[in-house]
Amino acid sequence: MKKISYSAPGKVILSGEHAVVYGKPALVCAIDRRLTVHLIPTKVPSPKDSGMNVIEKVVKSFLKKKQISIRAVNYKYSIDSSIPIGRGLGSSAALSAATSAALLELYTGQEWSLEEINNCAYKAEQIFHTNPSGVDNTAAVFGGLIYYRKEFEFLKTISSLSLKIPLRIEENLFLIDSGKPEESTAQMVEGVGKLYNRRSVGVEKTLQNIERITKRIVVSFAKGDTLFFEKSLKDNQKELENLGVVSKSVKMLLDKLSLFGVGKVTGAGGFHGASGFILFYAKNKERFLEYMKKTHIEYMSFHSSYFGLKKEI
Ligand code: PMV
Repeated sequence: MKKISYSAPGKVILSGEHAVVYGKPALVCAIDRRLTVHLIPTKVPSPKDSGMNVIEKVVKSFLKKKQISIRAVNYKYSIDSSIPIGRGLGSSAALSAATSAALLELYTGQEWSLEEINNCAYKAEQIFHTNPSGVDNTAAVFGGLIYYRKEFEFLKTISSLSLKIPLRIEENLFLIDSGKPEESTAQMVEGVGKLYNRRSVGVEKTLQNIERITKRIVVSFAKGDTLFFEKSLKDNQKELENLGVVSKSVKMLLDKLSLFGVGKVTGAGGFHGASGFILFYAKNKERFLEYMKKTHIEYMSFHSSYFGLKKEI
């Protein structure tokens, strides 16, 4: 048996993080950073880390439920990745997606549909993050720009948008690294859940505002309206601050950067310390880049990717 390799992209949530856990839509885009999993069949079993064991269990139970026999095969594995870990850029979802695809093929000798791979990846994400919406694994599997909504556990709407982020917006988008949050995604989701229980009317209002902003960002892309995009991004950040998922230091950083553009936290965020990556739209790119160079703040350009899960030869 030959080596089996699959790769999946990381993602950036453009709008709708946290709100998506409550049935609101999220707009997510795959990025050009990928994670690749290689499975190499071996004679004897090899050690695996806990993440791999989780995904293996999920895939085996998925096949068992379908009454499909599982080939008895041992393997060793390796992972290459250019997606930063634990910073809200979808590294865990890319791992769940690529590994599910590779294991399904290893155990059955056939390639599986994206929908079925996505189901397995979602189940693994549920174990890793307790109560995920499924937006991360969906972006990792399908790629591109996706409008996602989980109505119920059994009804998830995945709309792959035919439009792209207009070039004049994308060429001014950056991902600024505010550092690894102290809290995990599961802890952030739980924290927002507690706030919801304490102040449900106020939080519900915030979530509705986020839904409106998510739709406005889609419209800004469709129209190529940079000003509308800029305003929506700024409003989005305010609502995330209302949810409490932006740390004080990140608010201060965005205040300083407001001379050059607007930004919002992307992903789960962080209560204390850092809040992961900031999606930043530079109105004045030259001055922004000069400032970043001077202050040594880590950042990268945002590059969308229209490739989802891919079998690698
Ligand atoms: O994986 P992260 O850290 O980008 O967060 C995912 C976004 C949340 O909406 C906070 C959680 C979820 O499952 O949708």
